Amino acid sequence: MNTPTTASASPYGTLPPASPLPQRRPVSLPRLQQLREAGEKITMLTAYDATFAAVADAAGVECLLVGDSLGMVCQGLPSTVGVALETMRYHTESVARGLHRVQGTAWLIADLPYGSYAESREQALRSACVLMQAGAHMVKLEGGGWTAPTVEFLVQRGIPVCAHLGLTPQTVHALGGYRVQGKSDEAAATLRRHAQELQDAGAAMLVLEMVPAQLAAALTTELQHCHTIGIGAGRGTAGQVLVLHDMLGVNLGKNPKFVHNFMQDAGSVLGAMQAYVQAVKSGAFPDDALHAW
Ligand code: KIV
Repeated sequence: MNTPTTASASPYGTLPPASPLPQRRPVSLPRLQQLREAGEKITMLTAYDATFAAVADAAGVECLLVGDSLGMVCQGLPSTVGVALETMRYHTESVARGLHRVQGTAWLIADLPYGSYAESREQALRSACVLMQAGAHMVKLEGGGWTAPTVEFLVQRGIPVCAHLGLTPQTVHALGGYRVQGKSDEAAATLRRHAQELQDAGAAMLVLEMVPAQLAAALTTELQHCHTIGIGAGRGTAGQVLVLHDMLGVNLGKNPKFVHNFMQDAGSVLGAMQAYVQAVKSGAFPDDALHAW
């Protein structure tokens, strides 16, 4: 007869009592600024549930993003447009609970979903409060220009904000598909202006998605108080983010060029995440010749 080796063995993925990284200080905005000033790349992955969040924290990932990409990878939606605020709240709470269970130290960002912040600054504040009360440390919203007053409104009320420019998936229909943004001189100038306005409004982080590497690197130099986090934006940004399912190679569709499957050479999910952290920190990922435009 098989007997369990430990009294606490469980078939349901019991979370360990403490993070294997007890020496890491909690990741905070000042800590991210320190990393930036030290020239150390910031690592971010998406997370949607308690267990993967705990494993990512143990792997040393600094920032976890409860991305509305969960609509596509968890809910099977065709885009992020159908994601509800309540769904974001549910997943944010799950991730926060997972981190809490392992005394995790990662900085937790949650996406404001489509339709939850465009109506008015007050609507954005109400939606942001839902995610902050679910355990987020920061909220993320997409777009430039019209979003700057909203960012300022939230920041003034003590809610840290991450902006998102370039390919903004919530406006995929207006953009005409998942395409590289900021390629023409005019588009690059608009993106630059929007990024500066967002930093001036108080955004502490800026995701740059599918933006030419040269433009992303220039923006990173210009924005010293707003940390650029690239996804398909080359190696010159202050940090990198990937969607969890993409970097674990469980995307059944065609992976975008900026994705690397870190699972293929790793023996475990923890190993894949550790390899990602190591590759970003060392500058090995992304490789502009393979993963950027
Ligand atoms: O929703 C998401 O996962 C994102 C990342 C692609 C940055 O916004």
